[in-house]
Amino acid sequence: MINLKDVNKSFKVKGTTFEACKNINLSVEAGDVYGIVGYSGAGKSTLVRLINALEKPTSGQVVVKGKVINELDGKELRQIRKDIAMIFQSFNLLSSKTVYDNVAIPLLLNNTPKEEIKAKVMAMLEFVGLSDKQNVYPQNLSGGQKQRVGIARALATNPSILLCDEPTSALDPKTTDSILRLLRKVNQELNVTIILITHQINIISKICNKVAVMAEGEIIENGTVKEIFAHPKQQLTKDFINLVVDDFIPDTIFAKAMQEQGPARIYKLRVLNGNVCDTFVPDLRKQFKLELKTLSMSVMEMQGSILTSVGILAKGDAEELARFDSYLYAHYEVKEVTA
Ligand SMILES: Nc1ncnc2c1ncn2[C@@H]1O[C@H](COP(=O)(O)OP(=O)(O)OP(=O)(O)O)[C@@H](O)[C@H]1O
Ligand SMILES: [Mg+2]
Repeated sequence: MINLKDVNKSFKVKGTTFEACKNINLSVEAGDVYGIVGYSGAGKSTLVRLINALEKPTSGQVVVKGKVINELDGKELRQIRKDIAMIFQSFNLLSSKTVYDNVAIPLLLNNTPKEEIKAKVMAMLEFVGLSDKQNVYPQNLSGGQKQRVGIARALATNPSILLCDEPTSALDPKTTDSILRLLRKVNQELNVTIILITHQINIISKICNKVAVMAEGEIIENGTVKEIFAHPKQQLTKDFINLVVDDFIPDTIFAKAMQEQGPARIYKLRVLNGNVCDTFVPDLRKQFKLELKTLSMSVMEMQGSILTSVGILAKGDAEELARFDSYLYAHYEVKEVTA
């Protein structure tokens, strides 16, 4: 659907060159909800602006549906742009126009017949749950409702790609969840491929199937959300994921475990599997002649998979502990060991 090949984008500011995107290679498949996460200034917005040809790469190719869009202009470029819609953090609604008229804008620009516009706008407002707000002005809507209008407007022309630049950053957590549910519906019911930019990793775990982590203009790590969350490789990715995966062992429990006499270790592990709450430590007890205690456990769901964080105290014979250690490292993501 979208392929970026060796894409670079630099800006010249007062004689000096600034590289906003460096050696970007990214492949987005039809049906993906592809998250791009990174701190402010990482180059995320520049990257999406390359995808809808608002910016041209300094070098490399941006291929959308088989067409190298950075080499297109005129009619062909306008054609492909109609297929790529966008929503923004600040909603970008026209304050002087009603909800209905805001959603109608792209259709008017396309010279769509009036009756068709009406049917489409009403269908889109129904889809986003705002049928009763058609005559309201943006200043009388909540943030979540404004973003719903933004989504209705973006989808009015039946695009196959929706670019979302920080779509929930101005919203509270509950409204954020409702907008994410709506975006999932857009992806699943309307078959729209989504690229979602955010600096909040929890958004990624909620709706994306793939993720790319950006830092200083580069994609430092990318893959499926399941794989990246269970086995992050780069430090920045780990830092992001630590914000959402709860590996915390409460201080008093940790301190008590530290007082154990003899060879003992405290492990923090992550297990990507089915629900292992009941079975994980009991199964380990069957395999190792060690005293094993569960110190903490937290569970999160991600793309239908369960990611469990477990804190374990293992105590016993030094040799058996070493065998246990190798086993854990071979089978799970061991986050931390305290001997
Ligand atoms: N038109 C431009 N001219 C000069 N520099 C630019 C331009 N657009 C972006 N940049 C620079 O490129 C870098 C990346 O900007 P970009 O907006 O892509 O970051 P971002 O990851 O979207 O950040 P944020 O999370 O704050 O939105 C920034 O240092 C920015 O100043
Ligand atoms: Mg940005």
